[in-house]
Amino acid sequence: MAAPAPSIGACIFDAYGTLLNVHAPMAALAGRIGENWPQVSADWRMKQLEYSWVRSLTGPGEHQDFWRCTQDALDWVFARHALSDDGLRAALLNAYRACPAYPEAPAMLRALREAGMAIAILSNGEPVMLAAAVEAAGIAGLLDDVLSVEAVGVFKPHPSVYRLAERRFGLHASMMAFVSANPWDTQAALAYGYQAIRVNRDGAPDEYNLRGVVPELADLAGLPELLAA
Ligand code: LAC
Repeated sequence: MAAPAPSIGACIFDAYGTLLNVHAPMAALAGRIGENWPQVSADWRMKQLEYSWVRSLTGPGEHQDFWRCTQDALDWVFARHALSDDGLRAALLNAYRACPAYPEAPAMLRALREAGMAIAILSNGEPVMLAAAVEAAGIAGLLDDVLSVEAVGVFKPHPSVYRLAERRFGLHASMMAFVSANPWDTQAALAYGYQAIRVNRDGAPDEYNLRGVVPELADLAGLPELLAA
């Protein structure tokens, strides 16, 4: 790959859903959940995010970290879908701690690194769960840093989160790419001033009028070429 475009000094990634497959834990335990597991997994994800947003909007006194939100969301999902525990809850949480990277992610990160790009994760995840996840996914050595919202005690899309990468790299957001498969995160990064990029793996509809405004990739494989352009 050619060197990154001079206007991009660092590439910042969302973690859960972008580099890491958040549906892999339920897929791996599908036999114990039932054929409805994709819906159960989608509900888990949506509740996890809902709890993060409600805690942020309610105010600093209500903040609890993303691992807590993940567990609370799983408890709701168990009740909603009448799942019985029998060790399933612990197995799902263990699997979530080791969410695998999407298959093309490691090679993509390696290509960016070889081209001299600074790379970081900027995630809702709390530091311990993030450290475990990047280690398990085999991408820890490919990152310059893993930035957690816990440094500011509020979740995305609060602007103070997006400021963390500016501080880390000493670059204005407009000099950095921000890559997310969560459209609301792409939108917030764009609003903050990043060169935002959407990953859309399943051809989901446009949101926030992002289409035509930010590049959209079907997966992460094309990112090094896009950033070099
Ligand atoms: C993250 C959320 C969006 O990793 O999943 O920040």
